[in-house]
Amino acid sequence: MNQTNAQLLNELHKRLKTCTRCSELVDNRTQVVPGAGNANADIMFVGEAPGRDEDVQGIPFVGQAGKILNDLLNETGIPREAVFIGNVLKCRPPDNRDPLDYEIANCREYLHAQIALIRPKLICTLGNPSLKTLINKSMTIGKVHGKVITLKGIKFFPIYHPAAALHNRANMKPLKEDFEKLKKLLQKM
Ligand code: URA
Repeated sequence: MNQTNAQLLNELHKRLKTCTRCSELVDNRTQVVPGAGNANADIMFVGEAPGRDEDVQGIPFVGQAGKILNDLLNETGIPREAVFIGNVLKCRPPDNRDPLDYEIANCREYLHAQIALIRPKLICTLGNPSLKTLINKSMTIGKVHGKVITLKGIKFFPIYHPAAALHNRANMKPLKEDFEKLKKLLQKM
């Protein structure tokens, strides 16, 4: 019998939970945060890495940035259960430092496997690390957010990271505008 996408994703996540590729992350993590959501999602959101709350709960975007993401999804009428939410890194970097290049390289295979399984119609990268990992290292979020970028047949929609609005409330405006654009895009897909 063919396995469903949900079963295949589950197996990938089981494998991920025992990953020991990055020793500093392994030594500091409570648990791996593989990602969560619908294995047949039309939209996938990819953030940077789990923070403290995510590391404790094992679920992405459940802290302060997650609350902003939830609010934006609610306002846009996109149920969180309908999408898949993941991160470039599946383990929390100590003190939430930036992901290191070798950690991104180690974890890339898992992110690509998730994308290959879910085959979303649109991937929303959240913030610079996700944009640079999935689309183009030389792009910056301030320049390309809110624009559809197609790469090897995959459609990407870069958005500011929700945490940008925690650091500077003014970033809420482009975030809301991009979620409005996302809503319109989805109506056409
Ligand atoms: N920030 C991220 O990039 N990912 C999370 O899961 C939480 C906060």
